[in-house]
Amino acid sequence: MTEQAPQSRAAGVSVETLLEALPYIREFHGRTVVIKYGGAAMLDEGLRDDFAADVVLLKYVGLNPVIVHGGGPEISRYMERLGLEVKFHEGLRVSDAETVEVAKMVLVGKLNSEIVQRLNRRGQPAVGLAGEDGSLFEVAPVDNADKVGFVGTVQRVDVDVLNHIAADYIPVIASSASDRSGQSYNVNADEAAGKVAAALGAYKAIFLTDVEGWLVDTGDTGSLISRASVGEVEEQLPGIDGGMRPKLQACVDAIQGGAQSAHIIDGRKPHSLLLELFTDAGIGTMVTP
Ligand SMILES: Nc1ncnc2c1ncn2[C@@H]1O[C@H](COP(=O)(O)OP(=O)(O)OP(=O)(O)O)[C@@H](O)[C@H]1O
Ligand SMILES: [Mg+2]
Repeated sequence: MTEQAPQSRAAGVSVETLLEALPYIREFHGRTVVIKYGGAAMLDEGLRDDFAADVVLLKYVGLNPVIVHGGGPEISRYMERLGLEVKFHEGLRVSDAETVEVAKMVLVGKLNSEIVQRLNRRGQPAVGLAGEDGSLFEVAPVDNADKVGFVGTVQRVDVDVLNHIAADYIPVIASSASDRSGQSYNVNADEAAGKVAAALGAYKAIFLTDVEGWLVDTGDTGSLISRASVGEVEEQLPGIDGGMRPKLQACVDAIQGGAQSAHIIDGRKPHSLLLELFTDAGIGTMVTP
């Protein structure tokens, strides 16, 4: 009796969880979900595996996941190893020619390839691509290029290549791009994800990061804002610092492109993606139209 109790309780929990997930699985079937995988949420080996397992499960149950990833902490780590100065201005990495080169090597050569390999190993073949592939991103220098250097803003997303790939594979996009002259740019991965979501007409955009969500007050000690409208976000945007600013702007872009909701969730929590998509409670910050 005493030995059986925990087992049956565990079984009860998993059946309830499955039943809770069913209406969501039905709602999301065939829908495109853009998932921004933040560098900060990629640091732990166990979490990286959980993330791959979650994305593969989404594909199996009929969603169309598209991944856009950053690599902030890893890029900074390599820059430091090479003796380059790491600096940010309003959430954007200050990027001289050398920084852009290192960022691209880390993003495309290392992180993108690692994510693709993990998905492949889990049985869902993935295809990695950067902004240049299939002319995915057309970029122009950002307005404050005098302060941040070679940081590009995405002017246009050509979804043709994504639609071709997504028919059979999971697209995994590294946020780097070049202009027509061949100059490379750093592109903030949140911005890229928001624009990809808008261009694809994604149903949802989900941003995994290293905090619970959008917090009142700056930094990570404030309390969580669990729900906000696009209007409320736009009102607050000028006062928001650091990496949260491009993320919230990207939520606005995704929704203005037709997404039903955009979510900022804690990628440090195991299986946060599944919790957000398939449970009634949801987690993190939800931005709505
Ligand atoms: N109001 C706020 N609420 C929550 N986080 C905030 C806020 N203001 C600034 N931040 C900072 O934003 C950070 C998240 O953005 P950051 O760019 O560092 O990571 P990321 O976007 O997940 O990863 P990557 O940049 O590698 O793609 C948090 O760790 C936090 O320090
Ligand atoms: Mg960021």
